Amino acid sequence: MKQHLDIETTPKHVAIIMDGNGRWACRRGLPRMAGHKQGAEALRQTVKNAAEFGIEYLTVFGFSSENWKRPQDEVKELMKLLRHYLRSETAELHKNNVRLCIIGDRNAFDADIIELIRNAEMLTANNDGITVVMALNYGGRHDIAQSARRIALRALEAGTVPSVEEVEKQFDAHLMSAGMPEPDLLIRTSGEHRISNFLLWQCSYSEFYFTDTLWPDFDETELRLALQSYAKRDRRYGGLNAEQNREG
Ligand code: IPE
Ligand code: IPE
Ligand code: MG
Repeated sequence: MKQHLDIETTPKHVAIIMDGNGRWACRRGLPRMAGHKQGAEALRQTVKNAAEFGIEYLTVFGFSSENWKRPQDEVKELMKLLRHYLRSETAELHKNNVRLCIIGDRNAFDADIIELIRNAEMLTANNDGITVVMALNYGGRHDIAQSARRIALRALEAGTVPSVEEVEKQFDAHLMSAGMPEPDLLIRTSGEHRISNFLLWQCSYSEFYFTDTLWPDFDETELRLALQSYAKRDRRYGGLNAEQNREG
């Protein structure tokens, strides 16, 4: 494990909005796809670095439910890259004891991609190293809506409507991220300061970290900077910190 971080202040779950691939390519006079390819490389490195930093869960936004709006050619190429990534990385992830989970509506993908996802999840299901969650065709509102729908179906079956408190308690178990801790730290690259329909419910108390660095340039140093920033945060969850409590 990398020694320069305090285990006490290392976030258990880091989520990343990997943004800026297109601009990275554009600045080099390259086609946008070159940025996506370099972005996949940055992801490969970040998975390794995150594991070495002792992070237990890494959730990355790979393709949003709104990204279908992009030109057909780009979407097609992104699907090719996803296919290639799953084919070429699954064995390596497994070798490194990574558990891979996919959240998002996978049914919109081609049958062979769905199969690759299923195989990767099955192969790595019992690994006990870092859990890497890839959000693919993921939308936070859709996640919330499908959780609400499942609770509604159960209520229909039971013939009684649960209280608001009960619904709130049940919600987590029906989200696509069920069973995972909420992100402690949410990183967004490329200088954009928005959540773009990522983990809306799950990020209610996440610490946000924004960097101007474009995703393909995100490396170990960048991750360390984000973790160091996180280590200085004072998470109060609406209450007071220990020192304030003593003073009061
Ligand atoms: C993020 O990079 C990757 C995906 C959304 C698939 P972008 O493609 O959004 O890059 P920019 O924001 O245009 O630079
Ligand atoms: C968010 O980035 C989605 C991913 C990184 C996969 P976008 O580039 O799609 O977000 P907007 O359009 O800038 O909000
Ligand atoms: Mg973008």
